[in-house]
Amino acid sequence: MRNFITIEGCEGVGKTYQTSLLKQYCRENGFDVIFTREPGGSDIAEQIRKIILDANNKDMDDLCEAFLYAASRIQHLKDIVKPALEQGKVVICDRYVDSSYVYQGLGRGLGLNKIVKLNEIAVGEYMPEFTVFLDLSPEYAFKRKGGADQSDRMEAVGYDFHLKVYEGYKQLIAADPERFEVIDASGTKEQTQAKLREVLIRRGVLK
Ligand code: TYD
Repeated sequence: MRNFITIEGCEGVGKTYQTSLLKQYCRENGFDVIFTREPGGSDIAEQIRKIILDANNKDMDDLCEAFLYAASRIQHLKDIVKPALEQGKVVICDRYVDSSYVYQGLGRGLGLNKIVKLNEIAVGEYMPEFTVFLDLSPEYAFKRKGGADQSDRMEAVGYDFHLKVYEGYKQLIAADPERFEVIDASGTKEQTQAKLREVLIRRGVLK
C-alpha cells in the first residue's frame, strides 16, 4: 500500500529511539507524516496491548497471543492507518505484520504459514509499501542494552527466542528482498538515523 511504511527490528536495536528522532526531524522540517506503533496505536488497540504485554499473563496460549496481535492490528488499521492513508498522508508504523510472522510464527513456533493466513484476514491489502529492517544481532543488542527487561513478557523470554526472531527476519528478507530496506544498526545512533533518513528520501517518502 503506497505511503505505508513499517519499521522492524529485534529487541534492543534502538527502533523506538530512532523512530522518535525521525518524528522530531519530520516535525521540524514540515513533513506531514503520521507516526504510530504496534501493538496498540489507538485507544482500543492499546487496551489489547496491555493484555498481551502484561508480565502476569505468562500462561497465555501462543495462538491466543497471535490472535490478540492480529486483533490489535485490525483496530489500529481502522482507527489510524486507513484514515491517514485516505487523506494522502504518509504513515510510518513501528512494527507491523512482519513482527507477527517472526515472533509468533517462528519464535513461538506456530509456523509461518499459519500466521501469514491469520494475518491475511487482519490486513487484507494493507501490506507496507516497504519495510525498514534495523539490523542488529540479538547478541550485540542485549550486550549494548545490558540485558532484557524482565517486566516485559516478550523481552523476558530469553536469548534463544530472540535469535530465532532475528533469523526469522533474515528469512523474510531473503524471500522478499524488494520489500525490505536493511539498515546496519551497529554504528552510533547518529549514523543509524542518517541511514534511515537517506532511505526515506531515496524512496520518496520525505519530499
Ligand atoms: P515494545 O515494548 O513496543 O517493544 P519494541 O520497542 O521492541 O517494539 O513491545 C512490543 C513487543 O511485541 C515486542 O517484543 C515484539 C512483540 N510483537 C509480537 O510478538 N508480535 C507482533 O505482531 C508485534 C506487533 C509485536
